[in-house]
Amino acid sequence: MTVKLFRNARIYTPVDGGRPAAGPDQGKIRHFERGALLTEGGRIVALGKEEEIASRLNRRPHMEVDCGGCCLTPGFVDPHTHICFAARREKEFELRRAGTPYLEILRQGGGILSSVRAVRAASEEELFEATLENVLSALSLGTTTMEIKSGYGLDTENELKMLRVIDRIRRETPLDITATFMGAHAIPEEFKGNGDGFVDLIIDEMIPAVIGQGIADTCDIFCEEGVFSVAQSRRLLEAARKAGLKLRAHVDEVHDTGGAALAGELGVLSAEHLLAANDDGLRAMAAAGVIADLLPATAYSLRKPYARARRMIELGVPVACATDCNPGSCFCESMPFIFGLAVMNMDMTPEEALTATTLNSAYSAGMADRVGSLDEGKSADFLLLDCETPAGIAYHAGVSPVLAVYKRGEHVA
Ligand code: NIG
Ligand code: FE
Repeated sequence: MTVKLFRNARIYTPVDGGRPAAGPDQGKIRHFERGALLTEGGRIVALGKEEEIASRLNRRPHMEVDCGGCCLTPGFVDPHTHICFAARREKEFELRRAGTPYLEILRQGGGILSSVRAVRAASEEELFEATLENVLSALSLGTTTMEIKSGYGLDTENELKMLRVIDRIRRETPLDITATFMGAHAIPEEFKGNGDGFVDLIIDEMIPAVIGQGIADTCDIFCEEGVFSVAQSRRLLEAARKAGLKLRAHVDEVHDTGGAALAGELGVLSAEHLLAANDDGLRAMAAAGVIADLLPATAYSLRKPYARARRMIELGVPVACATDCNPGSCFCESMPFIFGLAVMNMDMTPEEALTATTLNSAYSAGMADRVGSLDEGKSADFLLLDCETPAGIAYHAGVSPVLAVYKRGEHVA
């Protein structure tokens, strides 16, 4: 197995304490100013001060990479994307910019429903090609692990088609991918006015088919006014859990419907968005150890007030950040942009933002046993960045700071 020494690097990484980092731990970062990382067979063997790590090699044959004093951080983990879609919705962006609300466009049969029509019409090959383009763009921007949701099929056949495409992305790109079933993303035209009937169909037909297919390991739902109610969300998530799926949920994105409290009650892996979440809901999440998965580029794109990250950290809720990459509310696959918004518009420190985009996001994706920090034994997924400290990711705005992306010890972008 090839041994590789990455030397002359400014290393910054959160430390995996066995659970998502919350409160003051969110900002605790390990740093080596002249550091080195040792990998073997794609895994991290050691990291520390360069002299110490180099002396451990003891004349063992190895490959050496001089990182030129660059910042070296874990690869970004993007734990929330709808990146599997067939067509962009640029016209809708213009409507929203001019003032039509996001949920109004959905009510009129556009929005998510327009992406559903496009996915249903696309062949599996077309859907794969469209998805691949955006996933490779994310990889070049430093995302080495990604969650991808279904949810633009909204019938059994097309939800399974999306999940097969996601599985093919997993097999044919260097990224680690986790697949989420999101049949409850919107109520399809065929079920207009009959949300309960659609939830029945998901529970009775789609979930068993998804389990039989064996690609998705998590279930998600859009709990929102005019979409799925808290009661419907509870019913669906409980059924998904019984079937063996992990749970996550879009809650309180546009309106406060008490979704955060539901996330706490059910003890889901992570609760997504939370732009409008109230303090009681956040306390319930903190008590249950539910991760807040914040999607600041969606607030940016919908022009809404950002989620209250500071309050969440204060209440002991572990905060993760993700892109939410989708053709509607947020067409963004850039984790450096997310990092910048977290620091500048959610008032997180660069250290907290680093934890949010690596370690806590790995927990949110259910993959922290393998990725998310530069801990011994984890996959050697890391970035070389054109900055001296992680703050540089926010400081040098509007450009990619990513000079090189390594996945399992290999230079992949
Ligand atoms: O997280 N809110 C629901 N789902 C996505 C948007 C999907 C879309 O607009 O196509 C979100 O914002
Ligand atoms: Fe989303």
